[in-house]
Amino acid sequence: MRSHYCGAVRATDIGQEVSLCGWAHRRRDHGGVIFIDLRDREGTVQVVVDPDTAAAFAIAEAVRSEFVLRIVGLVRARPAGSENANLPTGMVEVVTRSIEVLNESETPPFQLDDETLSESIRLTYRYLDLRRPVMQNNMRLRYRVSKLMRDYLDTNGFIEVETPTLTRSTPEGARDYLVPSRVHDGMFYALPQSPQLFKQLLMVAGYDRYFQMARCFRDEDLRADRQPEFTQVDLETSFMGEDAIMDLVEGMIRSVFKAAQGVDLPNPFPRMPFAEAMGRYGSDKPDMRVTLEITEATDLMREVAFKVFSTPANDPKGRVAALRVPGGASLTRGEIDAYTEFVKIYGAKGLAYIKVNEVSQPNETGLQSPIVKNLSETALRAVLERTGAQNGDLIFFGADKATVVNDALGALRAKVGHEKGHVDGRAWAPLWVVDFPMFEFNEGEGRWDALHHPFTAPKDGHEDLLTSNPGAALSKAYDMVLNGWEVGGGSVRIHRQAVQAKVFDALNISAEEQQAKFGFLLDALKFGAPPHGGLAFGLDRLLALMTGSESIRDVIAFPKTQRANCQMTDAPNVVDERQLRELHIRLRTVQTQNPPLAAE
Ligand code: AMO
Ligand code: AMP
Repeated sequence: MRSHYCGAVRATDIGQEVSLCGWAHRRRDHGGVIFIDLRDREGTVQVVVDPDTAAAFAIAEAVRSEFVLRIVGLVRARPAGSENANLPTGMVEVVTRSIEVLNESETPPFQLDDETLSESIRLTYRYLDLRRPVMQNNMRLRYRVSKLMRDYLDTNGFIEVETPTLTRSTPEGARDYLVPSRVHDGMFYALPQSPQLFKQLLMVAGYDRYFQMARCFRDEDLRADRQPEFTQVDLETSFMGEDAIMDLVEGMIRSVFKAAQGVDLPNPFPRMPFAEAMGRYGSDKPDMRVTLEITEATDLMREVAFKVFSTPANDPKGRVAALRVPGGASLTRGEIDAYTEFVKIYGAKGLAYIKVNEVSQPNETGLQSPIVKNLSETALRAVLERTGAQNGDLIFFGADKATVVNDALGALRAKVGHEKGHVDGRAWAPLWVVDFPMFEFNEGEGRWDALHHPFTAPKDGHEDLLTSNPGAALSKAYDMVLNGWEVGGGSVRIHRQAVQAKVFDALNISAEEQQAKFGFLLDALKFGAPPHGGLAFGLDRLLALMTGSESIRDVIAFPKTQRANCQMTDAPNVVDERQLRELHIRLRTVQTQNPPLAAE
């Protein structure tokens, strides 16, 4: 049926007869001659239909966009002057001997090369959207990257083991997707949020090095970098400490970037403690390409008259911090207002600022700002010194609970940095964030939660802190950050039952609850569990970064919308009464049909 891919015809084929199968990308009538750009997954080639081949010409006249064609013809050089150096097939064209219409197409709802398509229409007609070369490239890169990862892991002695999809709740902190059981009245499976517990059990079982391209399910608020089902490159090893694990997996990322994109990532990746990342960047996933840094000002603002600053400065959970923007005094009122609105997304109540006109005069003479009159000259001088301010700079301030200040100034740093060009020019800036706290305090519930998951091992020497000062206990957890995205995370696990019990105590999980939820893991730890640890990469996020996509939806063949719908199949949807009865389910509200899809 086919001798060549359309996109693979080259000058070396000149003089050969070829048979091609593909889609009519575009058809142009040029005074008696018809040109068809015939497209397949490898690209397009120009097909010429001459009126002399009358039968073919008659068919070509009826061809429309996206018709599926088989064309037999002769490859020849394009006439001088009509070559297209931008196209791999641009030196040649195929002169048609015969055309066969393998299938017609209705007029597609959009032009494949339309750059302004709404995502809603793309997702409704995903099979057409996936025909577009950019999506084809994304899907093929995705395949290539996962193949390269498999090869790397295989070379390093990892074996892939499949773990169940119908399982019990796994503790990653999101809401579960539940599947009702027909056989067990009133009982539910949970879809795994990750294979975490199974991979630890595989270490207990002596497999030593496991990996899996694992589909994970999390019912959480969706964003550009989150999908309800996504793919982890999940791995676990025995008898390796955190440094060795980090070396091994960053080696995988380096080799993938080299092989897939010809990019040399740094060796080794820099590492930064969590506390430093929060202090300097307000984030545990800082974009290291941005050169702006946050400066601590809490200690400088304890005595000032301005309550907005002094109140959080004297609150043990508060923080006052500054963000110096070099040359920022030229920001307009409108720009500052827009940034003020932006930080409100993160809970900030305002965004104080100072424009530095004359740094040697830290008062209303040298500084321009609505708040200067409320701050002492001593405090202002100290802030200018500590931030390294120069004439012409602007300093933003955040003052609130530390979590709010970090979220707001962390996000502002990245936004201002990119918008105003405070970036270092690197294409890729990987970073390991290490030394995470074991726990974070859940204000709403008044208790400690595991920052990663409750199986993360405390740092050596921090075991006693689990009970004496849980907030100060650090863990053997690590996250890989790339250009401000968390692309992977993992830890060394607890392998001794006594330590696991201490962590559960700190988390206030009772013995009964421990047994009910994780009894199988606690039992396993009693039967010779080796020291072990691992990590999981978000494959979708890595691909979104590698392809320069705004959203991970662009690297997933059939993604969900922000409201967790599949716009093409219209899932989720109602099921019939008989199915529900079999599953022992009676609905609280009876839905006769799915509500119409909201525009995204
Ligand atoms: P974690 O919860 O950090 O760790 O997940 C690992 C990585 O998966 C990606 N990721 C997501 N990607 C798309 N959509 C989502 N909703 C989503 N949630 C997470 C991120 C993240 O870094 N069991 C541990 C790993 C371990 O400790 O070995 C875990 O699941 O890139
Ligand atoms: P106000 O006292 O409300 O007029 O605020 C004076 C300045 O402080 C304005 O520029 C506000 O945007 C800013 N501001 C108010 N609350 C905060 C806060 N929590 N953190 C930082 N700046 C604030």
